[in-house]
Amino acid sequence: MSEELSGRVALVTGGVRGIGLAAAQKLAAKGAKVWIGDLTPETDDAVAAALETIDGGAAYVHLDVTEEQSWIDAMARIEADDGRLDVLVNNAGIDGTGRIQDMSLELWRKVQAVNNDGAFLGVKHGFKLLEKSGKDRKGGSSVINVSSVMGFVAFPESAAYCASKGAIRLFTKACAVEFAAYGVPIRANSVHPGFVQTPLLDEGFQRMVTRGVAEKAQDLKDQVAASTPVNRLAEPDEIAAAVAFLATEEASYMTGSEVVVDGGYLAR
Ligand SMILES: NC(=O)c1ccc[n+]([C@@H]2O[C@H](COP(=O)([O-])OP(=O)(O)OC[C@H]3O[C@@H](n4cnc5c(N)ncnc54)[C@H](O)[C@@H]3O)[C@@H](O)[C@H]2O)c1
Repeated sequence: MSEELSGRVALVTGGVRGIGLAAAQKLAAKGAKVWIGDLTPETDDAVAAALETIDGGAAYVHLDVTEEQSWIDAMARIEADDGRLDVLVNNAGIDGTGRIQDMSLELWRKVQAVNNDGAFLGVKHGFKLLEKSGKDRKGGSSVINVSSVMGFVAFPESAAYCASKGAIRLFTKACAVEFAAYGVPIRANSVHPGFVQTPLLDEGFQRMVTRGVAEKAQDLKDQVAASTPVNRLAEPDEIAAAVAFLATEEASYMTGSEVVVDGGYLAR
């Protein structure tokens, strides 16, 4: 275990599985006390199973990122237990795949609510603790918003997702310049994964199979791997490595940046 984040406290939203869990593991490996915030009830076996994979100890807080009161409660708990927050990873996200003409307004709004309102509310309600904790750190505290390559380029049947990921890319820059302008010691950066082997990807492709877009989810996986220069999907910990770097003081001069981790997808 390294000590880069020793004494620091991090919150990762959507951390029960996928990229969020990998990020929680990496942050803890760098010495941080990590909170996972997710929809899963605290007593669910999945929570205990996730926490067990995180060396050095982690805590869980029930959090629906779309609900303002849920954020207020989560931050109150972190403040009461730890009195600080150095790293906020707004990772919780949903895809909401479907063709534009068939998509309900309800689904469109749900995708924006989780992927964008969630990050906004996190920064809004995390601000007080992040600002306080940032004062004794080179570069300040760190907000890391998980966007996507689809914050840059589009993909069929992903209009709501692309719109949300483009918006979070600019929300991140808005945080960065506003905090810098007011001398607030908080950095904000976005991470843009390519296609990553997680339940979100599997479930999204499975829904496309149900709609008759492909015969098998594996065919869709093979297609996206083939359209990625390195010819494979990413593992969650390859994305988590970038998140963990942005959390450290090594990234003290990085704010408003887009960190692309995509096997060359956007380079073509
Ligand atoms: N998997 C990919 O290929 C990929 C690519 C680019 C970007 N991303 C982004 O990475 C992030 C994580 O994706 P993943 O693939 O690990 O997804 P995942 O579905 O495997 O995990 C997402 C987690 O977020 C939680 N969550 C969903 N709604 C929530 C809410 N309202 N409040 C709190 N938690 C909530 C889920 O319970 C789950 O634990 C997302 O923002 C996603 O858009 C994923």
